[in-house]
Amino acid sequence: MTDIAAESATAAASGAAATEQFRSKQKSRTTDVDTQRVHTLVTELLNATHDIVRRHKVTYAEYDALKSWLIQVGEDGEWPLFLDVWVEHVVEEVAGETREGSKGTIEGPYYVPDAPALPAEATLPMSEEEAGTPLLFQGQVADVDGSPLPAAKVEIWQADDAGYYSQFAPGLPEWNLRGTVFANETGHFKIHTIQPAPYRIPTDGACGELIEAAGWHPWRPAHLHLKVSAPGHQLITTQLYFQGGQYVDNDIASAVKPELILHPTPTGNGNDQEVRYDFVLDKA
Ligand code: DHB
Ligand code: FE
Repeated sequence: MTDIAAESATAAASGAAATEQFRSKQKSRTTDVDTQRVHTLVTELLNATHDIVRRHKVTYAEYDALKSWLIQVGEDGEWPLFLDVWVEHVVEEVAGETREGSKGTIEGPYYVPDAPALPAEATLPMSEEEAGTPLLFQGQVADVDGSPLPAAKVEIWQADDAGYYSQFAPGLPEWNLRGTVFANETGHFKIHTIQPAPYRIPTDGACGELIEAAGWHPWRPAHLHLKVSAPGHQLITTQLYFQGGQYVDNDIASAVKPELILHPTPTGNGNDQEVRYDFVLDKA
């Protein structure tokens, strides 16, 4: 991932960084796979595929196009991107079914753990001349029974005003627009940042080729990514979107929920905007 800054913003470069990031996260986990479960899930996946082939009379030309496309997704390192855009939202829906607190949504491929620790009121790391509308994002973290969670941790990461994530696009400072904010004794936090731009998934790789071939668009609405946690509580991974923003109604990754739309208002200082959003965490 460290060489990314020297490269250009290509699907293969961001794909390689996302793949490496996923692998390092996965290394620290044990994957217990139950034989019966693998049998059931893979059989049903294959059966669904066979059914599509029969119903649509898929031709050899189409089968070979699929085969060469799948090979290319791997070569471009775009499996994290593909899965997080087109599959993760349903996995998250199932995972979040029994939660009472704040809504979650997909993590996506660009989370990096251990971003710089920041106090309850802080400005995210950004360059001196960072472009974009200043945004004050504040709120409180509480338990489902309403008690504030003083030891809450708010991890935030976002794209910049050009739609790029640090560590996955060239030329950005390592921790640009990433931070780990520790709430104060009443669970409050106050984060000074800028409004992110909509995110365009890379169009020069295999996923871009699919999007074009299917006549889709490659965009996600502008969003803030968050992981909010506190001792004794369930961590929530979520995203927040902006009222009236482009693509809020047609996110390529299907990750928008009505509860996750922010309504920022002007602070009265130039273009600056501010918004409050409170998080509610379920008990662990
Ligand atoms: C992808 C990128 C994102 O920024 C995101 O939030 C979700 C998915 C992607 O490229 O797969
Ligand atoms: Fe994102």
